[in-house]
Amino acid sequence: MKYGLSILASVAAFGLTAQPALAADYAKQTMDLMKADFRSKGPATVEGVLQQDEAQHLCSAYPAPDKRPKKLAAKLEAEQLKLVKYPSDGQYIGRWQEGEKIAQSGRGMQSSDKPGSPNGGNCYACHQISKAEISFGNIGPSLYQYGKLRGQSEGIVKYTWAKLYNSQAYSACSNMPRFGHKGILDEQQLKDVMALLLDPASPVNKD
Ligand code: HEC
Repeated sequence: MKYGLSILASVAAFGLTAQPALAADYAKQTMDLMKADFRSKGPATVEGVLQQDEAQHLCSAYPAPDKRPKKLAAKLEAEQLKLVKYPSDGQYIGRWQEGEKIAQSGRGMQSSDKPGSPNGGNCYACHQISKAEISFGNIGPSLYQYGKLRGQSEGIVKYTWAKLYNSQAYSACSNMPRFGHKGILDEQQLKDVMALLLDPASPVNKD
């Protein structure tokens, strides 16, 4: 039987690939089954879903945060931080209006998407952000008044960029997608989302 890849693709895109450690032969059988039964379509490829990088391997091996060796988690975070690419022109802040649209959009990385069409960030699925949007998830902390509370120091700006670019740089096996690292959002989109969080004119930072 053939299944669409969209659900699996969403799971992979949004960083939820951690599975309980499986006995080696059981894991191999599962892989063989997946390779045989799923097919690539559009941006959702079998390889993209099944091939784990080092970080995903570690998170699959230790799905329970309290059983994950602290040293390994710290090493993973340091390695992920090294993979962050900061903006090539030194400008971190784009337009909050565009950032709001990106935060609202849950489109992307699915078998039904046209290759090359821009992805959304789906931020509201996990975060409260602006006050006007009352439909949001709470897997992640509220980001309402993020810039007002944190300010715009170089440290905060760089931390926020790195968090968006590669969430695991600060939190091993984070549920938050690695937006830049995984090519979900491009540099301009990241700048626009930065503006939504940090620009004093953004509704996020108004009362
Ligand atoms: C699948 C859920 C999920 C999605 C989607 C998601 N996040 Fe997160 N985010 C989290 C979780 C969980 C945390 C807290 C744990 C951690 O740091 O990983 C977090 C933490 C953060 C932080 C750090 C907050 C702090 O107090 O330092 C920022 C900033 C952030 N997210 C912004 C965003 C933005 C902007 C988007 C959309 C482009 C987004 N997140 C999408 C789950 C998500």
